[in-house]
Amino acid sequence: MRPRHHPVVRITHWVNVVAVLVMAGSGLRIFNAYPAFARKGEAFCCWPWEGMKAPAWLTFGGWLAGARNWHFAMMWVLAVNGLVYLGFIWLHGEWRDLVPRRGFLRDAREMARFYLFARPDHPRQGKHNALQRGAYFAMPIIGALLVLTGLALWKPVQLGWLTALFGGYAWARYWHFVAMLLLGLLAVVHVVMVLTTDPYSIISMTTGRYEERWSPEARNARPLVNLRPAAVDPAAVVPAAVVPAAVDPAAVVPAAVDPAAVVPAAVDPAAPVARHESRGQEDR
Ligand code: HEM
Repeated sequence: MRPRHHPVVRITHWVNVVAVLVMAGSGLRIFNAYPAFARKGEAFCCWPWEGMKAPAWLTFGGWLAGARNWHFAMMWVLAVNGLVYLGFIWLHGEWRDLVPRRGFLRDAREMARFYLFARPDHPRQGKHNALQRGAYFAMPIIGALLVLTGLALWKPVQLGWLTALFGGYAWARYWHFVAMLLLGLLAVVHVVMVLTTDPYSIISMTTGRYEERWSPEARNARPLVNLRPAAVDPAAVVPAAVVPAAVDPAAVVPAAVDPAAVVPAAVDPAAPVARHESRGQEDR
């Protein structure tokens, strides 16, 4: 067992889950009070479902005023929590685990190929695979768009310049809604992948601890494939030929060592290797 997520990351993650759920549910309830982007008597180019309400079971807050109260209360939690998380990963250096690296597109393609059974072995990864990095990097950007468009809707007079920046009130509503849909889609895919591919990471996001043999890479895990922990902890796998304890100094006679027999045969290049928690290499 070793540390994986700092307490600040864990606490802000779970606060964020509650805040996002309440914000999305109450936002949909507010939307249902006027489920269109066109003003009365006008047309709106870019929403084919004008007048269609969100299902009631997705909404939160009971009625329009109740949903507004929840939305305006929870927006502070979401914004402050998001700033604490982003400030922490910036100061602590963990932003490096989330920012796409050189070769990101190729690494993401290799991960997708693995999930689609087009390659047999899990690509090498650091703390998060390339697809996770892409998703985790996009989430705060979409979150910032949600907050900014939200401010444009909340104070369209005092912050008129911001509302104008998004194309006016109707368009600010539209971008707010589209950003919510995008974040919701990412979050649903994220949860499905966690549950079907890396359920052990829920333990790490709760207690902070993680075992290397639980990792998708050690298990060669795809969604719903290879869910059991790997039998051997890959961090403990050291090629037999390089374990010093195995060598009895008294028995070392230079002439007895055949250089050709050392190392290569003992190392299986396909075998998972130990990696640093934060900054491992993608498949090269
Ligand atoms: C019930 C819902 C959710 C569950 C069960 C869940 C679970 C998890 C787990 C287990 C991890 C750790 C993954 C790993 O260690 O490789 C994680 C990371 C993360 N999740 Fe979620 N998540 C949920 C909802 C959300 C939502 C709604 C968002 C954002 C809108 C989100 C954003 C993130 C981010 C950004 C990370 C990376 C954190 C970091 O390493 O700094 N999650 N999540």
